[in-house]
Amino acid sequence: MIEGIGIDVVDIDRFSQSLERTPTLVDRLFTASEKTLPLSSQAARFAAKEALAKALNAGKGLPWLDAEVINLESGKPEFLFRGEIADLIDGACVHLSLSHDAGIASAIVIIERR
Ligand SMILES: CC(C)(COP(=O)(O)OP(=O)(O)OC[C@H]1O[C@@H](n2cnc3c(N)ncnc32)[C@H](O)[C@@H]1OP(=O)(O)O)[C@@H](O)C(=O)NCCC(=O)NCCS
Repeated sequence: MIEGIGIDVVDIDRFSQSLERTPTLVDRLFTASEKTLPLSSQAARFAAKEALAKALNAGKGLPWLDAEVINLESGKPEFLFRGEIADLIDGACVHLSLSHDAGIASAIVIIERR
């Protein structure tokens, strides 16, 4: 059964300006490996975490580092959950798709519980 869906789009230039304006932001949003990625991939991961919050119907305040996006060998992105978000997900299957092009990064999340 589909339990939740979420979508988000991010203007990559504006996201870059936010990171420059607030130097602590990158550590608040991204894990060590996410921080090594190019800007467009980071913007897509930000979109993924926003889309996840929507799929969970959560307000502000979820710990961003509790949801990490990794890539499988094929390139397919997947979430790794820990802490508070792992408790909320509670074993559900979480599908994630990312895209970035033409100055925009976007993500779709589907939470499925079997
Ligand atoms: C709720 C939130 C995701 C909205 O994102 P946003 O970038 O401000 O706004 P967007 O333009 O992308 O989306 C707006 C739409 O989100 C939807 N939305 C608002 N609150 C929502 C919620 N609690 N759950 C799901 N969808 C929500 C609404 O449809 C809204 O559009 P509308 O007002 O026209 O109906 C954002 O305000 C937020 O809380 N961010 C923090 C997320 C967070 O804690 N992330 C860490 C997780 S790892």
